[in-house]
Amino acid sequence: MDMVKKTYKLGNVKLKNPYLLAPMHEVNDIAFRELCKKAGASLVYTGLTNPQSRKPINLEDKPAIQLTCNKSNGLKEFIKNNDKNCSLWDFNLGCPSLHAKKSKTGFFMIKNLRIIAEILKIIKQNTKKPLTIKIRKADLEDITPILALAEKYCDAIAVHPRTQEQGYAGEPDVEFARKIKTLTKLPIIYSGNVNSRQEADNILQEFDFVMIGRQAIGNPNIFYELTGNIPEKLITFKDYLKLAEKYKLSFQQIKFQAINFTKGIQGASKIRALLSSTRKMGDIKKLEYLYN
Ligand SMILES: Cc1cc2nc3c(=O)[nH]c(=O)nc-3n(C[C@H](O)[C@H](O)[C@H](O)COP(=O)(O)O)c2cc1C
Repeated sequence: MDMVKKTYKLGNVKLKNPYLLAPMHEVNDIAFRELCKKAGASLVYTGLTNPQSRKPINLEDKPAIQLTCNKSNGLKEFIKNNDKNCSLWDFNLGCPSLHAKKSKTGFFMIKNLRIIAEILKIIKQNTKKPLTIKIRKADLEDITPILALAEKYCDAIAVHPRTQEQGYAGEPDVEFARKIKTLTKLPIIYSGNVNSRQEADNILQEFDFVMIGRQAIGNPNIFYELTGNIPEKLITFKDYLKLAEKYKLSFQQIKFQAINFTKGIQGASKIRALLSSTRKMGDIKKLEYLYN
């Protein structure tokens, strides 16, 4: 694919390439997001962010913020307070989790068009940043009215073509995403099992942007591969640790990411076992794999 001539625009925002870090709850902390950006991701998302929650969030890197809620209380204030620290607003309509089921958010609110419309309208009225929704595979009769709302309020639609029952497993149904592409003029951000440059190139023949999820976990270097700019020194957990300490991330979060970064390294299962039982930062820092 010729990367030089093409421009990638999402709403009023120009992106340097079509490779985005998919929203991933608990995975996408600010240190991890920064590393994915360093490796070439043109846009990085937070995980699910509830505008009604009082949990502090660090947005110094200006990520795309993914919202989840099924009420509009506090939404306007949240947008106003965080708009300057955000590159794009996304509203989640795809989360398949038990928590989403209990709180009637994500995938479990797709039939609630009145509240979806109300939420999108409030976001749109309070920002000039691009607005997107993220959906997953569902009956077209449920999805079609959502597309109409997206056409009214949004700049693009992210599609993860697995059903709620599939969760994140099994084959994504590219055909479903193709169908959505024919039903809307909005750009489509494709998400699901895109794990290599070849796969990304194939997907980008048909869709406008591509999100990388699991392949980036513990492996921000995937974005070097996608952009074709592979440096001599790849990103390691040591780089993560430096940023995590800068941003004062919790020990639990650092440990979680240390485990993620064992992906693909020799003796990973042994190191993971060691990491799982540790309660000391010193133990994490001692591990040799950090320095390779
Ligand atoms: C650990 C994990 C957390 C996720 N959290 C979110 C989330 O907060 N919001 C969301 O829209 N999707 C979430 N997803 C779905 C991803 O954004 C993506 O659509 C899905 O993993 C398929 O892409 P992949 O095959 O590249 O991983 C999550 C996926 C994983 C594996």
